[in-house]
Formats: sequence, structure tokens, C-alpha cells
Amino acid sequence: MTATNHAESAAAAWTRKHLLGLEELSAEEITAILDTAESFAEVSTRSRKKVPALQGRIVFNLFFENSTRTRTSFSLAAKRLSADTQDFTASASSLSKGESFIDTARNIEAMGADIMVIRHPTPGTPHLLAQHVDCAIINAGDGAHEHPTQALLDLMTIRRARGRIEGLTVCLLGDIAHSRVARSNIHALKKLGAHVILCGPPTLVPRGWERFGCEVVHQLDEVLPRCDVMNVLRIQFERQQRGLFPSVSEYSQFYMMTQDRIRLGKPDLLLLAPGPINRGVELTPEVADGPNSAILDQVANGLAIRMAVLYLLSGRIDAGSRHRD
Ligand code: NCD
Repeated sequence: MTATNHAESAAAAWTRKHLLGLEELSAEEITAILDTAESFAEVSTRSRKKVPALQGRIVFNLFFENSTRTRTSFSLAAKRLSADTQDFTASASSLSKGESFIDTARNIEAMGADIMVIRHPTPGTPHLLAQHVDCAIINAGDGAHEHPTQALLDLMTIRRARGRIEGLTVCLLGDIAHSRVARSNIHALKKLGAHVILCGPPTLVPRGWERFGCEVVHQLDEVLPRCDVMNVLRIQFERQQRGLFPSVSEYSQFYMMTQDRIRLGKPDLLLLAPGPINRGVELTPEVADGPNSAILDQVANGLAIRMAVLYLLSGRIDAGSRHRD
């Protein structure tokens, strides 16, 4: 089966209008997105990196938080599928003149938007939007809740490097409590059969996750030899209400991934970091740029994942009444 055929058959089986989180997706749906992304990864290797799949569609990026790679990645993914894209900048919009968020979104919809990609500091904003507009909604990060496409690209990177997810031991390291990336990863990894370890200082690792079958550990050096994958999360200073550890240097002493810690792990330990990375806080420059690091593979895979999600959801638009051609 060719790459395009594969994506077409995945789209025919896809039933969801929105991608709001991974908690509600089945293992089969997650695998369908990963498989579709493999088809689109091939497009990026061509000299002309464009397919006509979303020609005539309009994709709006609504980002209410700073973002470099996620916003750019969604924009490029939409362009590679031949969609028209428009970035909406909250600070330069009528929201600053008192217009409500829903009114702004309805105006954007009236301009013909088919898909809205939204990042917002308040958890649940994409879900609210989905109730008030008819467009397909993609959650690009809602507060500390979920960031589905980031977790999907993490899984794609693991699956490409190891050939599977099932049976692997994956450690999420650091600020689990404030991390939407951690939440989405936990849901997806558990559904696909990985063993998930959450490691960080007690103040940054909520206990409730043990009920979902995660192992909670506070000593990184104890757990390192068992891990196949180490996903290094950024300390979410902007989401912390007060100091949850004594100092950054203390955090780094116990939890920063260094060359010495790489040596404690398996030789083929796969090191992921969603970015932005803080060299010298969560990981050293040698580790970030070293042979175990798949950080730039994650960025490349992110494009394929976002193409896959846009493609699958756009197939559903045709099934909806308002958008019937
Ligand atoms: C993540 C995010 O925004 O949640 N980054 C990203 O999507 N590129 C992780 C982070 O900010 O630490």
C-alpha cells in the first residue's frame, strides 16, 4: 500500500471532529494518527514538500500564549497540505478592546475557517470553543491540562527509534504537576502498553497518577538503569504559584540529565525533551546535543503528526452538514 493510500484508509475510518486531548482517544485511534503521520513524514523528504489534501481549506492558529515551535509547526503542516493559514495574535486583536473570546472565535468562523488550532493558558478553553463554533478544533495546549500533538510526536519518535511502544519503560522527568505534555503522554503511553515512571521532587509529582498504574519515584539515579526512554520536561516557572523547590541549582543537582547520568542508563537510552530546553537546568548541553538525544527528531516528527491530525479532521468536515460542498 502506498503512503497516500494508507492515509486515505485511515481517514475513512476516522470518526472524531476535534482533537481536544488524548484521554478520550482509544489505543486504535492513537495508532491511526501515528500510522498516518508515517505517510506524511515521507512528504518532508521530497524536494517539493507539498500535497493538495487540504486545498481550499482555511486553518486558523489562535495562540493566546507564547510559542515558537508549536505555532510554526502547525502553520507549516497546514501549508504542506496546501491549506490557507492565518495566524491570530491575541494582543493585536479586538479582545484588547473588550470583545469576548467566543465572539472573536465566531467572527473568525464567519470568515470561513474550517479548523481552529488553539493554545490558551486556561484549561478547557478548546472544549468551550468546540461547543460554540462549528469548526474542527485542535488543542495546541490548554494550561496544565493537555497538549495532545506534543505527546503524539513524542510517541512517534519513540516508535521510530525502538519500533514499538508496548513493553518499554518511559520516564517523565521533572515538573509533572504543571505539565500538559506529561498528562497527554501518560494517557497515550499507558494506552499503548508502556510502563510509565514519573520522577521529580515530591512537590512537582502529584500522587494521584499511581491510580492510573504509573510508578512514582523521587530518586532519579535509582530509576535510571531501568529506563528505555527519558522525557525531560521543562520547569514550568510561569505556571508555579510559589517556589516548589529550594533553588534551581538544587533541582539540577538531583534531576538534571548529565553525562554521568547518561552513563548510569542503558547505552541506547532515548532522550526526549519537548522544548524549549533550558541548558544547564534540566539537561546539560553535552546531553542535549549528544548521541542519545532525539530532540531535533521530535521537531521533525511534529510536522508529520500535525499534518496527520489536520488531514484526519478535515476528512470529517466533509461529513458535516455546514461544510458539505
Ligand atoms: C511545551 C508546552 O508549551 O507545553 N512546549 C511546546 O509545546 N513546544 C512544553 C513546555 O513549554 O515546556
